[in-house]
Amino acid sequence: MSAAFAAAAGGGAPLLAVEGLTKIYPTGKRALGGVDVVIDRPQLVGVIGSSGAGKSTLIRCINRLVEPTSGRVLLNGEDIVALDRKGLRAARRRIGMIFQEYNLVERLSVMQNVLSGRLGYVGLLPSLHYRFPPQDIQAAFALLDRVGLDGYHNQRADALSGGQRQRVGIARALMQRPDLLLLDEPTASLDPKTSRQIMRLVRELVAERQTPAIINIHDVALARAYADRIIGLKDGLLVFDATADALTDEALTRIYGEEDWSTPQGEEEDEQPSRAATHLRAE
Ligand SMILES: Nc1ncnc2c1ncn2[C@@H]1O[C@H](COP(=O)(O)OP(=O)(O)OP(=O)(O)O)[C@@H](O)[C@H]1O
Ligand SMILES: [Mg+2]
Repeated sequence: MSAAFAAAAGGGAPLLAVEGLTKIYPTGKRALGGVDVVIDRPQLVGVIGSSGAGKSTLIRCINRLVEPTSGRVLLNGEDIVALDRKGLRAARRRIGMIFQEYNLVERLSVMQNVLSGRLGYVGLLPSLHYRFPPQDIQAAFALLDRVGLDGYHNQRADALSGGQRQRVGIARALMQRPDLLLLDEPTASLDPKTSRQIMRLVRELVAERQTPAIINIHDVALARAYADRIIGLKDGLLVFDATADALTDEALTRIYGEEDWSTPQGEEEDEQPSRAATHLRAE
């Protein structure tokens, strides 16, 4: 159990509390309109919602890659929004971030990429010249083994498949021994089977490490299958927050708008040629 979760379980502050979070971009776009989320246990929280709903803005405001306009982000009771640069650097080491596009240093080895996690995701370049202590190297080997990349430590990042890259991204984030993991569409560039494997790995890691994770995801079926809890955003507002079983058609409509959710995807695809055929006949 992480120290942070132990403190939370002991009746202290929840691990993460997002309070009244708003973000208005300089363009005037209100991307978040006052979002409240409390995470008080290690769980995998899937964030769903249409493109532009504010999913990335939400997780980027949590680690202040995007500067919130107002509201608080309390990590173990400490308000990230109020921290100065030095405090923020320290807080970011407690938040592991995993990106859709992996953000690896392509010409570095898998091992160097993973070790760079010790420096936090903001300092990749210094890792080129940094000598890591043996215990860090041991920890990196153990993590590579855990994420299924045993034997890959000397491979260059640019020689890996998408799924392997994402495993490196996960190992790098875990090198920080984070209290919270943030994942922004980590499976968006992956095939369906690899996506499931990555989701399964994240789910297992949340349980093993007792570290909560917030994962932005477009694929509702994947979210349902692997997330302990689902949050739905619409136009920057939280319109759903419950377990996957409560994600009814009515809830999906609240999140995404009107749609016949009962139509199986396969049938929809089958309809396409016949529509095209009708169109041709009409001509
Ligand atoms: N840097 C920016 N400047 C101005 N507007 C922005 C900026 N980043 C995002 N937005 C706007 O804020 C809104 C929320 O964007 P965000 O990227 O958080 O959505 P999202 O739910 O992650 O979408 P997607 O599913 O496409 O990734 C959108 O309308 C977007 O155009
Ligand atoms: Mg996004």
